[in-house]
Amino acid sequence: MRGMTWRGLARGLAEEIAAEGVPVSPDLRRAVVETPRHVFVPWFYTQGPDRAWVRTGDGDEDWLAAVYRNQPLVTELATTGAGDRVTVSSSTKPGLMVRMLEALDLADGHRVLEIGTGTGYNAALLCHRLGEGRVFSVDIGAGLVVAAGERLRALGLSPVLEVGDGRRGLPGHAPFDRVVATCSVPVVPWAWAEQVRVGGLVLVDFKPSVHAGNLVLLERTADGLTGRFLPRWAGFMAARGADVAPEGVRVHGDPASGARSETVLAAAPWMELVPWFLAQAGMPGEVSVGYSGSGWATLSAVDGSWAWARMRGDGAREVRQGGPARLWDRVEAAHGEWAALGRPGWDRLGLTVTGDGVHRVWLDDPGSGFEWVFAGPTVH
Ligand SMILES: C[S@@+](CC[C@H](N)C(=O)[O-])C[C@H]1O[C@@H](n2cnc3c(N)ncnc32)[C@H](O)[C@@H]1O
Repeated sequence: MRGMTWRGLARGLAEEIAAEGVPVSPDLRRAVVETPRHVFVPWFYTQGPDRAWVRTGDGDEDWLAAVYRNQPLVTELATTGAGDRVTVSSSTKPGLMVRMLEALDLADGHRVLEIGTGTGYNAALLCHRLGEGRVFSVDIGAGLVVAAGERLRALGLSPVLEVGDGRRGLPGHAPFDRVVATCSVPVVPWAWAEQVRVGGLVLVDFKPSVHAGNLVLLERTADGLTGRFLPRWAGFMAARGADVAPEGVRVHGDPASGARSETVLAAAPWMELVPWFLAQAGMPGEVSVGYSGSGWATLSAVDGSWAWARMRGDGAREVRQGGPARLWDRVEAAHGEWAALGRPGWDRLGLTVTGDGVHRVWLDDPGSGFEWVFAGPTVH
C-alpha cells in the first residue's frame, strides 16, 4: 500500500465496490477511478473506545489508505448545547453512493439536484458523469459548502452550490430530472415533487423516526410521487433545520410507573427494521430510541408517550408504557400484522406521496389493499 498513488488506490476502491456485489456501469466506474476522494476528505474523525473523537488527516500514516476504503467517514463535528460533540457531516460509503447513482438511472443531459453537499465528493462523481453545468447541490452547512466549492474548483469543476435548507429544493434552478438526498427526512418535501419533471425520479431516505425507513425511489407522476423502496437498507443522518448541531432527544418515561406487560418481541424493537418502520404509521409523531443506564431500551414520542422494555434475569421480557399513546401496543400490532403478511422485506414495499402531505406505504403495488398511512405535515 505504501507508495501507491491515489489513482491506484481509487482503482482498488472501484474493485472493492464491485466485489461487494454492487453492479457498477462503466461510466460510474470511471467516475470512481478518476475522482480523487482524498481531495474531498482532507481529514476524518473516528471515535475511540473512550468515545473521544480522534482526527486523522493529510500527513497521518493511515489517512490516504483509509480514504480509499469502501467506508463512510465522519468529516464534520459540532457541539450541542449540552456540550456533546456530534456528527453533522460525513462522506457517505462510496459503494452506497454508487448504488444510489445507479438506481437513479442517469442519462446524458440529465439535470440533478443533490440535497446534502457535504464534502462535495458525490457532487464530483455527478459532474464526472453529467458535466458540471447539470449538477446542483445544496447543504445547510455554510462552511461545508464553501469547502466543497474550493475542492471542486481545484479540480476544475464549478457546479451550482448553494447554502440553505435543501427541503425547499432549489426553485430558481428547477426543473430537475433527478433529485437525490443524502440526508434522511421524516416527510418527503412537496417542493421536490414540484421541482422534478413528470417522469423524473427522487431518491431519498424516508425515515419518519430513528432507524424507521429506508431509501425509496419515487417517480414524479401527474398527481405526486410514487415508487418502491430499495431492497437493501441504508441509513443517512437526519436533515437539520439549521446550521447547528442537532440537540439530543428528550427521553420520557419512568419504569417505576406506567402500565406493565410482558412481550415476546426484542426489547429494542428498532432492530427489526421493517415492522419498526410500519409501526410508525400509528405513532403520535417522531419516536426516538435509546438505552437507559439501567438496562432498559427506551422509546420516547414527541407528545410525551413512552415505552421501556428489558430482558429480565429469568429470560422474560418486560414492558412499561405511559403517556397519551401506548407505543409498545402499536409496535406489537404492527409486528403481528407484518408477520401475518409473511414478513415482507423492503423489496415488497412502496410509497406514494400526494400534495396533501399524506404518505401511503403499500405492499406489492399501490392497489393491493394493504397500506399504512403516514399523514405527515406538508413541508413547503
Ligand atoms: C451524509 S452527508 C452528505 C454527504 C455528501 N453527499 C458527500 O458526498 O460528502 C449529509 C449532509 O446533509 C446535510 N444536511 C443536513 N440537513 C440538511 C438540510 N436541511 N438541507 C441540506 N443539507 C442538509 C449535512 O450538513 C451533511 O453535510
